[in-house]
Amino acid sequence: MTSDTLTPEARRPINEQQPAPAADTKGTTRPVILTGDRTTGPLHIGHYAGSLKNRLAFQESHDQYLLLADTQALTDNAHDPAKVRRNVVEVALDYLAVGIDPGRTTICLQSHLPALAELSMLYLNFVTVARLERNPTIKDEIRARGFGRDIPAGFLCYPAAQAADITAFRATVVPVGADQAPLIEQTNEIVRRINAVAGTPVLPEAQAVIPEAGRLPGVDGKAKMSKSGGNAIGLSATPDQIRAAVRAMFTDPGHLRAEDPGRVEGNVVFTYLDAFDEDRAGLEELKAQYRRGGLGDGRIKARLEEILQELVAPFRARRAEFARDEGHVVSVIRRGTERARAVTEETRRDVVEALGLFRL
Ligand code: TRP
Repeated sequence: MTSDTLTPEARRPINEQQPAPAADTKGTTRPVILTGDRTTGPLHIGHYAGSLKNRLAFQESHDQYLLLADTQALTDNAHDPAKVRRNVVEVALDYLAVGIDPGRTTICLQSHLPALAELSMLYLNFVTVARLERNPTIKDEIRARGFGRDIPAGFLCYPAAQAADITAFRATVVPVGADQAPLIEQTNEIVRRINAVAGTPVLPEAQAVIPEAGRLPGVDGKAKMSKSGGNAIGLSATPDQIRAAVRAMFTDPGHLRAEDPGRVEGNVVFTYLDAFDEDRAGLEELKAQYRRGGLGDGRIKARLEEILQELVAPFRARRAEFARDEGHVVSVIRRGTERARAVTEETRRDVVEALGLFRL
């Protein structure tokens, strides 16, 4: 986590940040917001707490684009393109299941936006290999993936591709996890270089917005919830899966009998309650009681299970409904991608023109 690389604005709670309005291509003044997800697996409740919930709010106030980042997914999944393909519809279904409205949010597919690839190639000339290697996000991810020295070139260069994503939509607001903030820094470096060479501010800089709710740990207490790690609760988990996941959660290993005082910090059940319990006063009371002693793990788990069952049930139902008509989901993606194609192509033309390349 590199919160010291964030601007003061980015460190403020999300609901206090005031993004500068940018004129979008429709001539309105809603600020443009872009986020994306690599299509490597269905989303889970950690995604809901950390980003999907915010995206529901942003579609009311911003011109929002959601990028199904299949090309970026290939940068560390080139051996399994079928997985990347399959999960395009899965992730789109997750968006629709939580209430993303394609009438207000543009859902689009990265691999079908050629301007993104063309801008990526251009931007690679405005960044050095040394700078890419120094990017903290890339460094951490290279370590986590165990690439050693065998780093796919596409992976090393994905910050330039992500800069292309962000700028092609002229996004000024980019909500990402704290671990991705250095990518926005690097985007803005590229933007400043291009603007300097072009001699005109052809591209806007972007503001990283870090969600207040940090990353949700896995149900096993590991720092990262992930489907591949087998420690996630899916957005369409069954009631049994939710019950089993909550039952297996770690609490305080020193809290053996209900009468004993227990620890709330580092207690996975309370971390989840912090993320999902809307009854804040009730939660504070539960914590106090747990600390004092006299509150059994069964009780806090029952409370959490009730909340998660209530959260996931409508997602599961809506997802099942949308999944019955895959053709409809594909047409939502197709329409969004067409709209995104027009926007991104216009930016590509503007950049090429501003740089003054030869015109035939
Ligand atoms: N890197 C993001 C992730 O791994 C996905 C992504 C691709 C993205 N392009 C983007 C996020 C542009 C924000 C803006 O989740």
